Amino acid sequence: MFAASMLQRRAFSVSARNLSKVTVLGAAGGIGQPLSLLLKLNPRVTELALYDIRGGPGVAADISHVNTKSSVKGYEPSPTGLASALKGAEVVLIPAGVPRKPGMSRDDLFNTNASIVRDLAKAAAESAPDAKLLVIANPVNSTVPICAEVYKSKGVYNPKKLFGVTTLDVVRASRFVSEIKDTDPKDENITVIGGHSGVTIVPLFSQSNHPDLTNNAELLKRVQFGGDEVVQAKDGAGSATLSMAMAGARMADSLLRASQGEKGVIEPSFVESPLYKDQGVTFFSSKVELGPNGVEQIHPIGKVDANEEKLIEACLGDLKKNIEKGVKFVAENP
Ligand code: NAD
Ligand code: LMR
Repeated sequence: MFAASMLQRRAFSVSARNLSKVTVLGAAGGIGQPLSLLLKLNPRVTELALYDIRGGPGVAADISHVNTKSSVKGYEPSPTGLASALKGAEVVLIPAGVPRKPGMSRDDLFNTNASIVRDLAKAAAESAPDAKLLVIANPVNSTVPICAEVYKSKGVYNPKKLFGVTTLDVVRASRFVSEIKDTDPKDENITVIGGHSGVTIVPLFSQSNHPDLTNNAELLKRVQFGGDEVVQAKDGAGSATLSMAMAGARMADSLLRASQGEKGVIEPSFVESPLYKDQGVTFFSSKVELGPNGVEQIHPIGKVDANEEKLIEACLGDLKKNIEKGVKFVAENP
């Protein structure tokens, strides 16, 4: 009798611990829709909340017919829609914001996206202050510091729980290397550090299976400007959405695996970091080990070659300005 109730209680506590609500803000967009679909296919997600300024309920109705166990609900900006979408979330992803058109830099999106991200961060800080916040909206180098400043102003900032999603750079590097070397991308684990735009994206090929690639200028350009390839190919219809959805779903899954006790889960991501703080660069992407509370450990960069040292130097200059721009924006537009 005692054993049975113990077992029952244990079963209950395991399932209770594994209840994971995931919220997507911007769920009806080019990234939001396939990202939401991939999250619906993830058995670790038990509740999916899909919010957008328009179209959230439609996307939710569609995805809710997919026969996996999780519940799905769509939300609109009614007086309580955003707060209800966020309440109880373990992970919140923000793909809301405008994408680039040919000829634009990610920084050109700042004027529109900074206030969208600021306002969503305010709502998340109020309704889901303990959630892990994954920022996809560009320019990531600035939108992540914006979220940090908003959370600080609300007194709920926990640097372990704020991530800029740079997974797509890692995905691209792995894929592009596998194309050159005729290998399986799953065996090509390329560390990409820095930020998420142009020269702030620094792949460390010297640490990969193919150190010779450190001299491959064409490959470096593809990794740093892979986003532009897609923007040009889409010719005005936006930027990467499908590969980004995959990358965002991978990052969310890594966080859920780590929070459910899996050890050794490492994802390069853009977090508050001590690595180049002395040079005024307060956020930096590098290999981050994830744990139940988010960031468990930020790994050192490790050995880099002379080429990569120069790339890091170029990265830091731009990154510092991008971060400062985000911080200043919140100070002037709270
Ligand atoms: P999109 O225009 O297709 O979708 C954006 C969605 O956001 C739309 O459905 C829109 O209604 C919604 N939205 C706008 N304001 C909102 C608000 N205040 N609250 C909730 N939803 C809101 O754009 P997309 O192609 O999905 O790209 C979205 C963002 O992701 C862009 O800023 C893009 O640059 C960025 N992006 C980042 C990466 C990365 O690696 N981090 C990769 C690709 C794209
Ligand atoms: C990407 O890397 O594909 C995204 O940041 C979108 C863009 O503007 O390139």
